Amino acid sequence: MLPLYFFVVLNDLWIRHPPAGFVKSPLSETKLTGDTFELYCDVVGNPTPEIQWWYSEVNRVDSFRQLWDGARKRRVSIGTAYGVNSVSVLGVSHLTLDDAGTYECRASNDPRRNELHLNPATTWIRAQASVTVLQKPSIAVSESVIIIPEVDSILLQCNLTSTYSAPQESYWMKNGEEILGTRSPNKNTEHRINRPRGDDAGVYMCVYNFDMAPPANATIEIKSAPMITGHKRSENKNEGDNAVLYCKSVGYPHPVWTWHKIDNSGIRDFDNSTGRFFISSRENYTELHIADLDINLDPGEYLCNASNIIGSYSEKSVLRVRSLLAPLWPLLGVLAEIIILVIIIVIYEKRKKPEDLQDAGPVKTNSTNNHKDKNLRQRNTN
Ligand SMILES: *[C@@H]1O[C@H](CO)[C@@H](O)[C@H](O)[C@H]1NC(C)=O
Ligand SMILES: *[C@@H]1O[C@H](CO)[C@@H](O)[C@H](O)[C@H]1NC(C)=O
Ligand SMILES: *[C@@H]1O[C@H](CO)[C@@H](O)[C@H](O)[C@H]1NC(C)=O
Ligand SMILES: *[C@@H]1O[C@H](CO)[C@@H](O)[C@H](O)[C@H]1NC(C)=O
Repeated sequence: MLPLYFFVVLNDLWIRHPPAGFVKSPLSETKLTGDTFELYCDVVGNPTPEIQWWYSEVNRVDSFRQLWDGARKRRVSIGTAYGVNSVSVLGVSHLTLDDAGTYECRASNDPRRNELHLNPATTWIRAQASVTVLQKPSIAVSESVIIIPEVDSILLQCNLTSTYSAPQESYWMKNGEEILGTRSPNKNTEHRINRPRGDDAGVYMCVYNFDMAPPANATIEIKSAPMITGHKRSENKNEGDNAVLYCKSVGYPHPVWTWHKIDNSGIRDFDNSTGRFFISSRENYTELHIADLDINLDPGEYLCNASNIIGSYSEKSVLRVRSLLAPLWPLLGVLAEIIILVIIIVIYEKRKKPEDLQDAGPVKTNSTNNHKDKNLRQRNTN
């Protein structure tokens, strides 16, 4: 297939009606009944070419019929965008075996393209894809399970009961990820979960791979009541700060999350009249943000609750809010102590002064005499 710039260059060279050319043509596919396929067609030319889709059960030129958007009881959809290129997508959903056949993308910018006396082969370019539809294999699955404390093991089973060919191998997935060590070549496959816990709940799938045919799968749900496995027990913040409390859970289906405040009157919805509370929840995780903490309104216990159809679970978080002056208290305390000490000393000194002076008189003269003596002695040695 020629790269896009080639056509862009040609576009510039052929000023008068350059023929249309395919940038992307539809690819052949094999699908299962019930699935959907999409074919793409991308055509360049000047003026912008018109695109049509045609279908034939057998690949014979005279047996093609044009397809339109909404055909086959609305299972056919055609979306086309005309810009520099013409791009069209043909989609067929809820496939049946009768949808198999040859699909053709036709494009033309020839001004004579709709003149009936001309052979369309000379005025339209065409690209074909063949679509094969196989009967979807049927898989018998064991029933969905609810984890309760008394259950000590769960057995998931898939039996491939009808199929186009023997499977190459099968394996199990949990929540969209392969469970390692489950690959086997068997038509009947099992997965056992011993001592199931909340985090074993989820969507399980057995997948069969085939040689030369699309894989087939079936799902089994394991449900359990939510259990909160992590949360913030306490949060200490200063007034004016933002606080974040969170809870996360295991269990399936994913819970609906709610937050409440606990006060003297019990559990209640918090008052968001100040607009400072924000909750963001996704599947197994929820967060409560409280902006611009208020020392009078916000401290206390908060409750997060996770509920699904099986049960519910709550956890408490304690929020403490300190005054902004709090970090200054120790400093102020020390200052106050110093001031008191100084006052005490001053008062004490003032009271004691008269007596002290009388006592101290002779002592002072003594000491000066001693110094004089020392000095004299030092001079003598010199
Ligand atoms: C799958 O087949 C086994 C026998 O091979 C049978 O015991 C089991 O009940 C079957 N399971 C289902 C879900 O049909
Ligand atoms: C399971 O089958 C459905 C329908 O055929 C398909 O759309 C999906 O991609 C398959 N999933 C896996 C993991 O194979
Ligand atoms: C929560 O769900 C995500 C995917 O949805 C998963 O990756 C994560 O492990 C889950 N966390 C817990 C605690 O189950
Ligand atoms: C609280 O009010 C704010 C502002 O009106 C809003 O954005 C927020 O979603 C509310 N929070 C809750 C939990 O209702």
